[in-house]
Amino acid sequence: MTPSKQTEKQTFSGTKPLLRVLQGERLARPPFWLMRQAGRYLPEYRELRSKARDFLDLCFRPDMAAEVTLQPLRRFGMDAAILFSDILVIPYALGQKVEFQEGRGPVLEPISSVDDLAVFDEEKFHQKLSPVYETVNRVRESLDEKTALIGFAGSPWTVATYMVEGGTSRDFAKIKTWAYGDPDGFEKLINLLVDSTTQYLSAQIDHGAEVIQLFDSWAGVLSEPFFRRFVLAPNREIIRRLRQKTTAVPIIAFPRGAGTLYPEFARECGAQAIGLDTTVPTLWAAEEIQKICPVQGNLDPIALVAGGDMMRRELDEILQNLSNGPHIFNLGHGIVPQTPIEHVEELVRILREG
Ligand code: CP3
Repeated sequence: MTPSKQTEKQTFSGTKPLLRVLQGERLARPPFWLMRQAGRYLPEYRELRSKARDFLDLCFRPDMAAEVTLQPLRRFGMDAAILFSDILVIPYALGQKVEFQEGRGPVLEPISSVDDLAVFDEEKFHQKLSPVYETVNRVRESLDEKTALIGFAGSPWTVATYMVEGGTSRDFAKIKTWAYGDPDGFEKLINLLVDSTTQYLSAQIDHGAEVIQLFDSWAGVLSEPFFRRFVLAPNREIIRRLRQKTTAVPIIAFPRGAGTLYPEFARECGAQAIGLDTTVPTLWAAEEIQKICPVQGNLDPIALVAGGDMMRRELDEILQNLSNGPHIFNLGHGIVPQTPIEHVEELVRILREG
């Protein structure tokens, strides 16, 4: 595995604002989208969601998933659509039992060895995910010339936390006990996720995704050596393989919670841009990360719930502090269900008009 020490030069040429910033251009008004921009804070989402059997059914019905992807764009005109799906479709396609229970979030039948999964069957895997590819197709066809389509996946470590813990976790005790106690055995699971996630993203690219985001939402819970081995290395390997396939699709990596390891991650993972979580000080990021590659972020999603002067001050500061380099505006984590729609409208008004 050859680590890419430097962000590669882009060979794609885009006129869409998001693609321009991903090529390293600084725009006076940063393009924006919001993580989890489709979801329960929108009444039209809740309406469609109630018509699906369950959440996974919604993800696997291309007509519905494409519609849900486009809903926030109609209201707010973001610079990008993000495919509506979930990071847990990967364990599902690998044959693990995955359910989304109302009010409880995801519930998986936990695994404690890679042998708990069936041997990887590429054909079956793509067959199970083919409705997602069809959604990508449909959304791409309905976007205008200014709006980019983002495909995504969870990064191996983050997806593995759900597979091993059986759902959301407070202390990650099970997965860390495995990863720290038997790192070579655990790495087999990570390698399976590197292989399958690369294939999944590659298919999204073939069906029309123009940008890829890798969500490593739980990157911040590991000690330093294990961060390098199970967060940095797998992200770098997926990115390396995707860039071997094409240099026309930029990749945004989001190592949430990486803290002081952010600059090393940005230098070494090979992504074209880095997503900043809410806790990253933006003046520091301007110096330490934005000089390496474009950055994305990082308004606290709860500031968007609070709204008013507090939100405006935070927003101004982020825009100001990151204004000397390429910046994509976003939240520092996903939008939450209790977010008032008027606050999002106000945010968009400021982003567009100043
Ligand atoms: O950004 C978008 O609009 C695209 C869709 C998207 C969803 N999940 C839809 C979703 C994306 C990009 C994700 C990513 C995802 N999923 C992550 C990484 C980002 C992050 O938030 O850290 C993670 C960790 C998951 C796993 C997951 N999915 C959890 C923990 C939950 C339950 C929590 C919750 O919000 O309910 C989900 C469910 C989920 N994924 C919902 C949506 C809209 C809500 C389900 C519903 O409608 O009932």
